[in-house]
Amino acid sequence: MIGRLNHVAIVVPNLEVAAALYRDALGACVSAPQQLAAHGVTVVFVELPNSKIELLEPLGDASPVRGFLDKNPSGGMHHLCYEVDDIIAVRDHLKRAGARVLGDGEPKLGAHDKPVLFLHPKDFAGTLIELEQA
Ligand code: CO
Repeated sequence: MIGRLNHVAIVVPNLEVAAALYRDALGACVSAPQQLAAHGVTVVFVELPNSKIELLEPLGDASPVRGFLDKNPSGGMHHLCYEVDDIIAVRDHLKRAGARVLGDGEPKLGAHDKPVLFLHPKDFAGTLIELEQA
């Protein structure tokens, strides 16, 4: 059902510092910062040959990643994003299987202007899962 690993997301306290680390120390290609007000984050993508790393910094006081940073001041891995063909069919399948979909359960447009949903980490081996309709 799930397809490619679209990205691994890391929350960081300073996006500029983290982007420079990936660009200069690790020699990766890093996108320009993008503010996603609806998600309360500013994001850059690190392009890897086989996947992407999403670096996230809180945007605004109500940012959903603010609490994560309070618990992990130097940053840390936040979620994995898997690609799916039909996000509604996958969501309905997972709900029938007892998994909890976060928020109102309706897909929102993510950083790539594609529909995304998040699944409760307690239902998936302690890892927050993002599904993106590829
Ligand atoms: Co993501």
